[in-house]
Amino acid sequence: MSHDSPRVAVIVVAAGSGVRLGQSIPKAFVELAGMTLLERAVGALGHLSQGVQVIVVVPADFEAQADDVAKRALSESDCIHLITVGGATRHESVQAGLSLLAPSVDTVLVHDAARSLTPGDVFERVIAGVATSGHGVIPTVPIADTIKTVSHSQVTGTVDRSTLVAVQTPQGFPRRDLEHAYAHAGGADFTDDAGVFSNAGLTVETCPGDANSFKITTPSDLTRANTLLLGVDGASLRTGTATDTHAFGEAMGLRLAGLDWPNEHVLSGHSDGDAVAHAIVDALLVAAGLGDIGGMVGIDDPAYAGASGEIFVREAVRGLAEAGFTAVNVTAQLIGNRPRFAARRLEAEQVLSGWVGAPVTLSATTTDGLGLTGEGRGISVIATALISHNA
Ligand code: CTP
Ligand code: MG
Repeated sequence: MSHDSPRVAVIVVAAGSGVRLGQSIPKAFVELAGMTLLERAVGALGHLSQGVQVIVVVPADFEAQADDVAKRALSESDCIHLITVGGATRHESVQAGLSLLAPSVDTVLVHDAARSLTPGDVFERVIAGVATSGHGVIPTVPIADTIKTVSHSQVTGTVDRSTLVAVQTPQGFPRRDLEHAYAHAGGADFTDDAGVFSNAGLTVETCPGDANSFKITTPSDLTRANTLLLGVDGASLRTGTATDTHAFGEAMGLRLAGLDWPNEHVLSGHSDGDAVAHAIVDALLVAAGLGDIGGMVGIDDPAYAGASGEIFVREAVRGLAEAGFTAVNVTAQLIGNRPRFAARRLEAEQVLSGWVGAPVTLSATTTDGLGLTGEGRGISVIATALISHNA
């Protein structure tokens, strides 16, 4: 479904290389929580209240990739789109986009792909502002920091903040006026379109921007955007999976999942044989890239003969902390016929959560009589850990 004669065009400039972000691909094609910055920026346009003409301006050799992105992002919408190659500066990239406006367009918005999280209502406000005022309209946000003038690292003055705002995109303009302003700019370079517009003697008004519409410029901006989208910085998360299996011994007095089970057979092993604790230790260690329980300092030491699983879990958590990691949550599934686990599950979860310092949740299952666990010869445990690196 597409609209053939849109009245509004949005030029999405995405032709920069992203030097300050410092990745090997152009910034617009860098992923943010599993989707490129460009796809997020273009995707917002598909949800506007009217179908618009979308003109995406990209670096040379990225036209096909951008076309795929735009097709995907706009597939459910009334928008039409075109892809073109930008220039050496943002100003030139906007000009490349301006040359492709559909004849029906009377209002032009220019938007940075780098502002990937701009909400749709900012676009709506700018479009409505241009329609009612007939002027240029730019979204702004107040400046929180005190602003000073500096020369050679020396403060030379404090700027009156009450007259200042920070400017975002999309910036919207009546089409003819914007075309005139760009023609008037000649070879001069401007960092934003309102600058070009004002330079031609035309009026620019403001409307409220949005805090989420910040420009993704540096790696810490990307981290902030990730955190906003995921609730956590996905880049700092790691998962680990591990298993442990022990055979039952003759003696009674099982230790399992941090609990004593006096009427069950022990699990054999150098330490107390607590397969749940050991699987959790390995899941935590492997998530952090710290190897496994066998490599942990002193674990084969005779001093650890019969040692409680608690010692190993606490040691692993300490090792993680040294490497800058904290556990987010841990799960373990116990596989075996005995002990009957359900009745003591919550008790075990509480004990283990205390050792790990994060929620540990448990489940138990049998294997339909198959294998060493099904034959009742021992217990296997599979554990997963989610850990996060402290920024
Ligand atoms: N832009 C563009 N063409 C250029 C330069 C910039 O289309 N020659 C676009 C960018 O892709 C971005 C927006 O203008 O969406 C704002 O620019 P900026 O955030 O500075 O992006 P980059 O120029 O890519 O980043 P850097 O300055 O760190 O290299
Ligand atoms: Mg730039």
